[in-house]
Amino acid sequence: MDIPSHLLEILQKAERVAVLTGAGVSAESGVATFRDPDGLWAQFRPEELASMDGFLTNPERVWQWYQYRRTVIHSVQPNPGHHALAQLEKLYPEFTLITQNVDRLHQAAGSTKVLELHGNIVENYCSRCRTPYSQEIDTQAQEPPRCPHCRALIRPAVVWFGEMLPADVVEQAEEAAQRCHVFFTVGTSAEVYPAAALPYLAKRCGAYVVELNPSTTAFSPYADLCIHAPSGQSLPRIVELLKETIL
Ligand code: OAD
Repeated sequence: MDIPSHLLEILQKAERVAVLTGAGVSAESGVATFRDPDGLWAQFRPEELASMDGFLTNPERVWQWYQYRRTVIHSVQPNPGHHALAQLEKLYPEFTLITQNVDRLHQAAGSTKVLELHGNIVENYCSRCRTPYSQEIDTQAQEPPRCPHCRALIRPAVVWFGEMLPADVVEQAEEAAQRCHVFFTVGTSAEVYPAAALPYLAKRCGAYVVELNPSTTAFSPYADLCIHAPSGQSLPRIVELLKETIL
């Protein structure tokens, strides 16, 4: 795969790097994306499965869908793209990994500082009193457990449509986008805001913005460089070449 030498030169000089990832970074692990032709939103209705209204209308259906996604995620491993990002973190004094993914595969690959914009699928909390639910989840259960404090339904700790993203996480992500010298947007369709605004913010603030995605996205025309390849191939190659030039 052809990695332009000017990208490596820019990465060599950079001190601050930020990365935004989306579902595509986990595709090669076997986790479905959302908006590709075989993605989750081609088969399921987001308003039924990823909204508070959908949960209140049919909590069993929503819970079963997340149980299914947990099963998938527990059965897969981080891929070379996740591992490359964990290595990239070690090469920079200031490195920020921002993800829209809820699968925790970045952490499984060894990334230590991950800003989870959309929460995660591993943790749960009470839909009424918001107390974290720390009891083990019965993977066979067809309906959500009840909160031990207020008896309301327990929900997954993901951000649903219509909900606010965690303000402190958004603030840190925006700060990283504003401060970085190089910003990577990896495996995301760049359609869901506010996450999708981050590459534009980075660009406005002077960063060199690189898109790693086999397809063209809404952001592609604004990227300084697009590498149209699966991120499980492009990221390891970039890190490998960068290490060679640094050492
Ligand atoms: P999408 O499904 O919208 O986009 C996935 C992107 O990954 C597409 O642009 C694909 O071209 C790209 N892709 C596919 N295979 C790839 C590979 N091997 N390497 C690199 N890229 C690849 O997923 P997101 O942009 O993450 O939100 O979607 C954003 C949010 O929409 C999600 O976090 C989720 C969803 O609704 C919530 O659940 C709140």
